Amino acid sequence: MRAQAIYSVALLVLSLIGLGQANTIASCNSCYGINCQRTSLQAQEQKCADSLDYCVTIFDDSKVMYKGCSLEIPLTLRQRCESHSKGSSCFKCNSDRCNNVGAMDYACVQCDASKDANCAENASTLQPTRCVAPTGGNSYCYVKSSGSSTQRGCATTVAEQQSCLKDANCLLCSPGDIRGCNAVNISNNSNVGNRFIRFLR
Ligand SMILES: *[C@@H]1O[C@H](CO)[C@@H](O)[C@H](O)[C@H]1NC(C)=O
Ligand SMILES: *[C@@H]1O[C@H](CO)[C@@H](O)[C@H](O)[C@H]1NC(C)=O
Ligand SMILES: *[C@@H]1O[C@H](CO)[C@@H](O)[C@H](O)[C@H]1NC(C)=O
Repeated sequence: MRAQAIYSVALLVLSLIGLGQANTIASCNSCYGINCQRTSLQAQEQKCADSLDYCVTIFDDSKVMYKGCSLEIPLTLRQRCESHSKGSSCFKCNSDRCNNVGAMDYACVQCDASKDANCAENASTLQPTRCVAPTGGNSYCYVKSSGSSTQRGCATTVAEQQSCLKDANCLLCSPGDIRGCNAVNISNNSNVGNRFIRFLR
């Protein structure tokens, strides 16, 4: 009887482990508070104490507040991953270091005209895709175009945002209001690439 019980428990555990293969994580990307905005600290990782834990990223709007193992969320932020109404402010995933994802609303068209014929002038037909977790407090999409080259994507660091701002051929826009805000044509339209309307809303 006892052996039988132990055997069933062992089987159950084995099958849980088997089923949960994608769930057995060793580590998550890790940061807390202001450190989530420091590009020099983006390589930090946290080994989860429990191998059945999962990774999370917690946002305040698009700003990253915490990255790490779900069982180690700081108390002050814990409720963001529990309350259903705030579901979009807590991203959960269950593979190693999978939690480098931006907030739900932070999605940009991401393409390169040298690889995608629709990128230059037909970008509104491309699906905006979710950006990686930003280190900048603000999150922007960009479109950069000169000659026959056009690139669209996420400007996730302050350095990328500044560099776009200084570049007359680059335009930033805020994805919060318009999904895929960086789908606009700028290649042949000198007005749109113009400094004065660098920020589309
Ligand atoms: C972009 O330009 C192309 C070619 O002129 C045009 O067909 C398309 O409608 C334009 N798209 C937008 C969003 O303005
Ligand atoms: C724009 O993309 C759509 C969908 O992929 C395609 O049907 C259409 O022909 C494209 N238009 C141009 C001008 O390339
Ligand atoms: C925009 O410029 C490209 C490359 O110079 C050209 O192939 C395309 O026909 C132009 N589109 C429009 C709408 O003028």
